[in-house]
Formats: sequence, structure tokens, C-alpha cells
Amino acid sequence: MAYPDTRLRRMRRDEFSRRLMRETTLSADDLIYPVFVHGADGRAAVASMPGVERLSVDELLRVAEAASELRIPALALFPVTDPGAKSLDAAAAWDDDGLCQRAVRALKARFPQLGVITDVALDPYTSHGQDGLVDDDGYVMNDATVDALVKQALSHARAGADVVAPSDMMDGRIGAIRLALEADGHVHTRILAYAAKYASAFYGPFRDAVGSAAALGKADKTTYQMDPANAEEALREVALDLDEGADMVMVKPALPYLDIVRRVKDAFGMPTFAYQVSGEYAMLKAAAGNGWLDERACALEALLSIRRAGADGVLTYHALDAARWLRAGA
Ligand code: PBG
Repeated sequence: MAYPDTRLRRMRRDEFSRRLMRETTLSADDLIYPVFVHGADGRAAVASMPGVERLSVDELLRVAEAASELRIPALALFPVTDPGAKSLDAAAAWDDDGLCQRAVRALKARFPQLGVITDVALDPYTSHGQDGLVDDDGYVMNDATVDALVKQALSHARAGADVVAPSDMMDGRIGAIRLALEADGHVHTRILAYAAKYASAFYGPFRDAVGSAAALGKADKTTYQMDPANAEEALREVALDLDEGADMVMVKPALPYLDIVRRVKDAFGMPTFAYQVSGEYAMLKAAAGNGWLDERACALEALLSIRRAGADGVLTYHALDAARWLRAGA
């Protein structure tokens, strides 16, 4: 039926009918809050991410309390390692008394109902800032790195992490980690696989926040993270990670990769997450700080769009703000 029988504006005329036909929802249930933890006392601002701070374990507990109160289901932890603790073999990554492990234990003791997700990757711990162990030519070695990631994931599980999230993009690491978790009795530990993680320039502010930017220098991660030009390859990555035992898969970054989120959700119908990364956050903050964009409206629109593309949930540095805005009735 054509105009004038069909007038799409009829349903848009009033708030009640706009609400009734709304297809996509966004609530605190859909948010995961990434947090940076440091070994120092108190909080330290991250210059390229206004509103984001590195937190001591004590401060982390305060933030966790706020997140719980806002009914955010889970936090994702990213430790900032002292330059002195970084090494070629990244051994600090599986230190049972390391910063990440201590933060997990503190969180689970105080807020047992709050989900704790840990990042499984070596970049905070290597002196060169790569996510894996390198050979003499600086090439990131796959299988030796997987062995190290297994040790790191087991250490996180022993500390009580609910979800381990390998973000390294080595081949075969999901299967190796799943096998090791089962063998060690960690049958409930979920794996959130960064399955389609692109070699993106939008990670810049994150690398400042965890202090891997200086170590990495001019090097890049193109021999393991995906080429932004590729979509079919993302489906192969997701298929492998699911076969190997991932419970959830992730696409990263989010907004420039919504086509990938949609294709992954359509192809597999599995719990699918997207990471609205540091650069996406920094862009919004910079424009809002200049008065060029309405932060609240744009942040909520971006999050809703990621949900509309098919994501079940979003890792976002806007999680606390978004949960507050939603509660206030945005
Ligand atoms: C590293 C890791 C990165 C992010 C999460 N885990 C950076 C990278 O791959 O260099 C980026 C997150 C963000 O930009 O917010 N394993």
C-alpha cells in the first residue's frame, strides 16, 4: 500500500506509538565496564580518555560498588604493569599474586554477584608491548604464546575470574585454554573470545592507559590482529573459536565494524559482544568537550546502534554514565 494509505509518520506522531513500535532496547543489563587497575595508590587520570582513571584495588572496589548499584552485570579488568615487572617472557602474567589476580580476589570477596572478566593477553607484561612472545626477528610466535596464555588463564581462573577473555588473536588459544580449564576443574569458567579483533588504530588511547604504547613504539599488530578490509575472515575466526569452546564471541572495535557484528550474529546466533574501544570513546569525549556533540545523546545512540546491529552486550567506557542516564530516563 502506498501513500496516502501508508504514512509512516502516523506512528511517529506521538511518544506512545513511538515507544510501542521500538524494536531495540538498551539497558544496564547490556553493559560491561572496562576498568584499568594500577599498583599505585589512589587514582590517576588517563589524558586521552577524559573521565577514565587508573584505579588502585581500593578505588576499584568503590567503582565496583557503583557499578553493582547501577546493576551493571560485569567489569572487565585491565592491569597497568610497572615497567620494571615487564619482561621478554611476560612471566608476571601468571603470577598468582599479580595485580590482576589480587584485583579479582578482592572483587569476588566483596561483590560475589558482580561478574569479573579478565583480559588474557601478554601485552601489559612484555617489554616490547606485543601480545605474545617474539622470536629473534620480532615475529610473535604462535604456539609458544599459546602455552603462556594457558598459564595466564589458569592463574586468572584460580583467582576466581568468572570469565577469561583472550584478546591476543593467536591461533588455537581458545581450544588450549578450554582444555586446560577443564583439566584443572574450572568447569564453570566462561570464555569470551575476542574472535574478530581488528588491527585498529582506534586502540591508541588504551595503549596510553595501560602503558604499552611506549613499549610498542612504531611496531604494529598486523601479523595477528585482523585486516580491517576483511569480513569473510571474521566469520572463519568466529567459527573456529566457537568450535574450540568459546561461550561468547566478541567483535572489536564496535561502531566501524557494525557489519561484522550483524553478520556474526546472523551466522551463528551465539552470545555476541562488541567492544566500543578507547578511540571511539575519545572521539565522542573530544567532540563533546568542545561543545560540538551532545555527549549523552550521542553515546546512547552509539550504544543502541551496536545493540541494533546484533550485539547482546557492549563493553564501553561509558557504562556507568549510560546506566545513570538510562535510570534517569533518557
Ligand atoms: C590488548 C588489548 C587492547 C585492547 C584490549 N585488549 C589493545 C591492543 O590490542 O593493542 C583495546 C581496548 C581499547 O582500545 O579500548 N590485548
